[in-house]
Amino acid sequence: MTWSTIVEPHPPANQSRTNPAGPRKIILDCDPGHDDAVALLLAHGNPDIELLAVTTVVGNQTLEKVTRNALAVGTIAGITGVPFAAGCPRPLVRSIETAPDIHGESGMDGPALPESTIELDPRHAVDLIIDTVMAHEPGTVTLVPTAGLTNIALAARKEPRIVERVKEVVLMGGGYHVGNWSAVAEFNIIIDPEAAHIVFNEKWPVVMVGLDLTHQALATPDVVEKIAAIGTGPAKFVTELMDFFAHTYKDAQGFDHPPVHDPCAVAYVIDPSIVSTRKVPVNIELQGTLTLGMTVADFRAPAPADCHTSVAVDLDHARFWDLVTDALVRIGEPGAGATNTGAGASDVELNEGAQLTAGGVK
Ligand code: BDR
Ligand code: CA
Repeated sequence: MTWSTIVEPHPPANQSRTNPAGPRKIILDCDPGHDDAVALLLAHGNPDIELLAVTTVVGNQTLEKVTRNALAVGTIAGITGVPFAAGCPRPLVRSIETAPDIHGESGMDGPALPESTIELDPRHAVDLIIDTVMAHEPGTVTLVPTAGLTNIALAARKEPRIVERVKEVVLMGGGYHVGNWSAVAEFNIIIDPEAAHIVFNEKWPVVMVGLDLTHQALATPDVVEKIAAIGTGPAKFVTELMDFFAHTYKDAQGFDHPPVHDPCAVAYVIDPSIVSTRKVPVNIELQGTLTLGMTVADFRAPAPADCHTSVAVDLDHARFWDLVTDALVRIGEPGAGATNTGAGASDVELNEGAQLTAGGVK
């Protein structure tokens, strides 16, 4: 069986299924990172997203390592024509803190990584973010940070006009009831709390896709089996990522199945009905000895009229993973000529017994 017989018709490249205004334009600011890799694949493979740029920042590992990883994921996915740029090598104020217990020494341990075929953009990520936002119509570009907020904070300080031009900031970070790097703080926020303070206090709309939501995005065995059944290189890459992630999340944080945080932010941009949110003021604790980096959410009702922050609450687990598998199906086997939206996936053979549709694997 070939993909041409089983992939349901889908809109041509750059035509949105759900948004009459066309695909949502995003800049992904990341630190790959197992879950960042899945976020990048989802953003690339989903026809409702137009990926304008990929930028990297120190986080899960050093800037050098996460940038190498981002380029490798872009190569695996067959991404072309999208600038990748490296950003800040350390947080604004604090020392570097990485996460080898979760992501390994490379920042993306597990699968073997290819040599990149993508050339790094010579600009600093902060400048690429600014240039990209300023080059597009106001209210059309969404920032999707899935790492510490150093690049985004600096971009807002260097070119304050981006704050009113950006459509919204949909970030993976924080948690209103739970932490993972301290009792009350999440990794992306605590590694650069001053940057997070800047981002949450600028008056752009901020959607915090935090741990309360992403701990619902578990890569359960049935999910991993469906991804494995796609049978392509990028799908195999994801299953290998999940295998490593499952072990470290079990050992370091006692999870039976790993929470795949970062693609939740991309999923919200694609289809906000998959992630329910609540408008609530959020600010970042910078003084507390036990509470540094806490995302303090004030749930007293009603939220003030000028409240510009909201938090993600509930995830539709099945539809979320359908989006991820659908993106992988569309990406296909880039080496076999596939392009964004899976248009060239017709030569890919499925694993036995699997049936692929544009909605995923059955
Ligand atoms: C966040 O921290 C990183 O380790 C992950 O990539 C994710 O962005 C989860 O706390
Ligand atoms: Ca990340």
